[in-house]
Amino acid sequence: MTTHSAAAEQQAIPAEQELPERKSIVDDFAGYRALRRRFQDLEDNDMAIPFFQPRDGVSHSVIRRDDKSLVSFSGYNYLGLNGHPAVTAAAKNAIDKYGTSASASRIVAGQIELHGELERKLANFLGTEDALVFISGYLTNVSVISHLLARPDAVIYDSGAHNSIITGARLSGAKTFTYQNGDWDGLDALLERERAGFRRGLIVAEGVYSMDGQILDLKKAVEIKKKHDMLLMVDEAHSFGIAGKTGRGVCEAAGMPVESIDVYMGTLSKTLASSGGYIAGDRGLIEYMRFLCPGLIFSVGLSPADTAAAIAALDILEREPHRPKRLRERAKFFRQVARENGLSIGGDEESPVASLIVGDDKMAMMLSHNLIARGIEVQPIVRPAVSATTARLRFFLTANHTEEQILQTVPVVAQELEKLRRSAD
Ligand SMILES: Cc1ncc(COP(=O)(O)O)c(C=O)c1O
Repeated sequence: MTTHSAAAEQQAIPAEQELPERKSIVDDFAGYRALRRRFQDLEDNDMAIPFFQPRDGVSHSVIRRDDKSLVSFSGYNYLGLNGHPAVTAAAKNAIDKYGTSASASRIVAGQIELHGELERKLANFLGTEDALVFISGYLTNVSVISHLLARPDAVIYDSGAHNSIITGARLSGAKTFTYQNGDWDGLDALLERERAGFRRGLIVAEGVYSMDGQILDLKKAVEIKKKHDMLLMVDEAHSFGIAGKTGRGVCEAAGMPVESIDVYMGTLSKTLASSGGYIAGDRGLIEYMRFLCPGLIFSVGLSPADTAAAIAALDILEREPHRPKRLRERAKFFRQVARENGLSIGGDEESPVASLIVGDDKMAMMLSHNLIARGIEVQPIVRPAVSATTARLRFFLTANHTEEQILQTVPVVAQELEKLRRSAD
């Protein structure tokens, strides 16, 4: 434009009050309207939207936001390996060698040596015959579950299931059934009733539940799977590198044979300080998925940096089993201090996911907001992630949290919660 001048620009842009009201194609969508109402509610209460808040630096037990240091319980850098010098160096070397992208789906031209190395190491670590990595943990569940089961089959998951499991089950076209998390008699009765009505059946459970923090009772799950001739898939997003003496997950923790679980699933984004997901299991299962699973063959390979970071993190996990041990101890310590301060925290004693249920969405948002002012960052979890009456603050404990940080945090949380409850009365 040759007439580009301040005067011309002023003419082209109407004064703010003259701008037509912003219209969106989703303005009359019920879900969008509900979202806008919730934002309005926050604004009316002088609170910022607590989500998508930027932060500086590596997500350790302390983060920087707006030039302020906050003790953080919102990241799942469980073993403190994000930012570990060896992990960072491995990612940088991989970029130097391969660039920043795998540049194609692995089945065509996206395969690099590192992909095979990571898969071999994961399989060795878990004791399975083989493993396969995908570019996202979420995508791993969606794509593997929906590819494994189809019409005359059934997928059964519980009330705590992660959205990626539910989505995969729905997309599969198989029948879906749900049961109350931990209600093994309920699951048994459901299968007594329904088992004859479907061909193959897959029970999908989580090693550590991402919202409530319970650890899977693997013995029970395996007993029921065997009784009803089902397959068992366990999502170890929050138990890989955590549960079991050396962090090998729920099978190690329960002292059960590796074959007890048919499909191991996990993410690279938590203990392994990277991004992506994996499945592990028998050779045939992995071959079937490697050559035919849509989420693998129609999607780019895991990036070189992410692959190398996960390999380096896994190497450290193998060498340093004191990391998962410390994390489990911190989780126990957090719950003990919480009890001493009158707070009721959900989940098993050694679970790194520690939820404080506070009631409705507003209460959770306000508590999180008030804690920021006291130097503590912990995310509110609200609808649709949880039900309207179980809004909560979810604390992710990590091996990096010190006992001092926990001792300083918990009483402040108890005080702020008490203040809010009193003002609500
Ligand atoms: C139980 C569970 N499964 C799968 C995922 C998806 O993993 P990712 O975030 O690595 O895509 C998550 C994410 O937090 C999760 O909690």
